[in-house]
Amino acid sequence: MKNIVILISGRGSNMQAIVEAGIPGANIAAVIANRPDAAGLAWAAERGIATLALDHKLYGSREAFDAALAEAIDACHADLVVLAGFMRILTPAFTERYAGRMLNIHPSLLPAFTGLHTHQRAIEAGCKLAGCTVHFVTAELDHGPIVFQAAVPVLDDDNESTLAARVLAEEHKLYPAAVRAFVEGRIVIDGLRVKVRD
Ligand code: GRF
Repeated sequence: MKNIVILISGRGSNMQAIVEAGIPGANIAAVIANRPDAAGLAWAAERGIATLALDHKLYGSREAFDAALAEAIDACHADLVVLAGFMRILTPAFTERYAGRMLNIHPSLLPAFTGLHTHQRAIEAGCKLAGCTVHFVTAELDHGPIVFQAAVPVLDDDNESTLAARVLAEEHKLYPAAVRAFVEGRIVIDGLRVKVRD
């Protein structure tokens, strides 16, 4: 059994997709949020999953928050940390600690459109394709070895929310598939390249 800790900041729909996938060999050990009001916390608690709110505002520095977060994650004996809409920049010490065992999902086809407002920026840039990326987390924001990507068309009448909805539907398939591949030991990281065995 692989212990998985999922970090969220908000609604947690990707967290829900991973939980509902019922991945064999995956134990969702805890869902942790940096915002006590994150809606996903209640959803997880209702399903009997251990939850924890670590309010980042109560910590004097990024380092102090990350140290508390690492303590909570390590108490779960986590094999994999899954960032699912976790809206905090992590310190290099934290990303180094979980190198090769921390995944993130980003709503763009990386390396295009790191950061925020990815859908609006893709529309304004005239992209014909948009999408999402699951990648291992490194110290550089929204970089790191890419595990899976999914693309969707950008339609002529798209706005930020219609495109976001089309991408989100793909996220909900892509992230459970990546977690499953990790749990099954099918992922090999080679520099920036990731090979996922069938
Ligand atoms: C998703 O679009 C994800 O790609 C991005 O933040 C959003 C989180 O949504 N990192 P949810 O909390 O998983 O519903």
